[in-house]
Amino acid sequence: MIKLSTLFQPVLVLFFLLLWGEVHGQTLGAHIVRTPRQDYQQNPHRRQQNGNNNNNGKKDTSAFNIVNGQILTPGLAILDAPQPFTPMGGDFLHIAIDVSGNGKLPVPPRAIDDPLTQFFNITLFLTSNVLLKNFTISNITTSTPPFANIMDQESGQTVKHINFEWPDCLVGDGKEDIGTTARGEYNISIHQNFRLNGSDHYSIFNLPISVTNSISQFPGAGQLLTKPPPGPLNANGGRMSCEMISNRLRNITELVNSVNNPPGQPYQDIAIETTAKNQGGQVGGPGTTNNGGGGNIGNNGGNAQGVVGAGTKAFKGRVWDSAAFAAVVTLATTVTW
Ligand SMILES: *[C@@H]1O[C@H](CO)[C@@H](O)[C@H](O)[C@H]1NC(C)=O
Ligand SMILES: *[C@@H]1O[C@H](CO)[C@@H](O)[C@H](O)[C@H]1NC(C)=O
Ligand SMILES: *[C@@H]1O[C@H](CO)[C@@H](O)[C@H](O)[C@H]1NC(C)=O
Ligand SMILES: *[C@@H]1O[C@H](CO)[C@@H](O)[C@H](O)[C@H]1NC(C)=O
Ligand SMILES: *[C@@H]1O[C@H](CO)[C@@H](O)[C@H](O)[C@H]1NC(C)=O
Ligand SMILES: *[C@@H]1O[C@H](CO)[C@@H](O)[C@H](O)[C@H]1NC(C)=O
Repeated sequence: MIKLSTLFQPVLVLFFLLLWGEVHGQTLGAHIVRTPRQDYQQNPHRRQQNGNNNNNGKKDTSAFNIVNGQILTPGLAILDAPQPFTPMGGDFLHIAIDVSGNGKLPVPPRAIDDPLTQFFNITLFLTSNVLLKNFTISNITTSTPPFANIMDQESGQTVKHINFEWPDCLVGDGKEDIGTTARGEYNISIHQNFRLNGSDHYSIFNLPISVTNSISQFPGAGQLLTKPPPGPLNANGGRMSCEMISNRLRNITELVNSVNNPPGQPYQDIAIETTAKNQGGQVGGPGTTNNGGGGNIGNNGGNAQGVVGAGTKAFKGRVWDSAAFAAVVTLATTVTW
């Protein structure tokens, strides 16, 4: 019998109690999955107006849904940057998108296929109804960023970075006459194909930005050190001509008709569930509490004889992590005392 140091025992007791509280907390919603929803319920006015296209067949007037600086979309993507209405310029447009639901979904090189919840793909466009523009940012055509599939870049990273080199018609320093360039108000338009709770969806989310800060014709060489490398570039390594990356601009009716939105915001309204996998997780079945008892945690510590992984199936993905901790502690206490 291994004897733990007398100092370590009370620490372990405290640790166990804290973890146990966490496991029970899951069902009520202290986890990241629920935090935004609670946050929204408490602060419904955080949803500001933006009229993004997240309704099927009708224009949605719901708001930007920003939680701790992250912008939730009507899809699995969570935008880390930029924030809405940011005035932008410089060498290139930098966009950061969490494609893992803040760690709930696997990212390549791990298999992302799942019958319940998975990303299929994301494409991005820089669009303006005002200026009648629709530029390709990323459309899964080449293997060179940003046209490449963003899911396959930055292997293993949950946040994918898109560095879109401003095309030539956006060059300016704010002193040019109105109408001589294509500078002005744009949307970063994010198209997502994904599966949520077993159903496939397609959503479009528009993030407004202003292309009003200075953009020079010849970006500094320093940008070449950026990863992923900014693009697209023309044959001479300079800014692309806008015509080369232009798409037909669809009107709002066409866009609304094209989407197949989920019934609610993933993460907030529809808890993310993936199918149980046998790649790890809780060792042993669920334990039982002992009711205080002066910190004697050895007696009812739990069932450590369970088959590896058997308990996992009973837990959906969002619960297993804390449960696993508790089970590990349970196992430890059973073995050592
Ligand atoms: C994106 O995913 C959808 C749904 O699976 C598929 O139909 C479409 O072909 C994909 N697009 C690209 C460019 O891979
Ligand atoms: C951005 O998209 C919204 C709809 O999502 C639209 O109302 C707005 O006019 C667009 N802005 C520009 C500059 O195109
Ligand atoms: C992707 O965008 C580029 C630039 O706009 C365009 O040349 C290409 O045809 C597009 N690919 C597809 C599949 O739409
Ligand atoms: C921009 O072009 C792409 C590719 O053709 C299309 O999927 C998207 O709906 C267009 N967006 C707008 C606002 O027209
Ligand atoms: C939107 O575009 C479609 C296809 O080009 C066209 O039939 C329709 O009349 C347009 N709607 C509006 C409101 O402009
Ligand atoms: C998930 O899908 C199941 C089966 O279609 C359904 O019963 C359940 O209500 C869905 N959950 C949510 C939160 O939409």
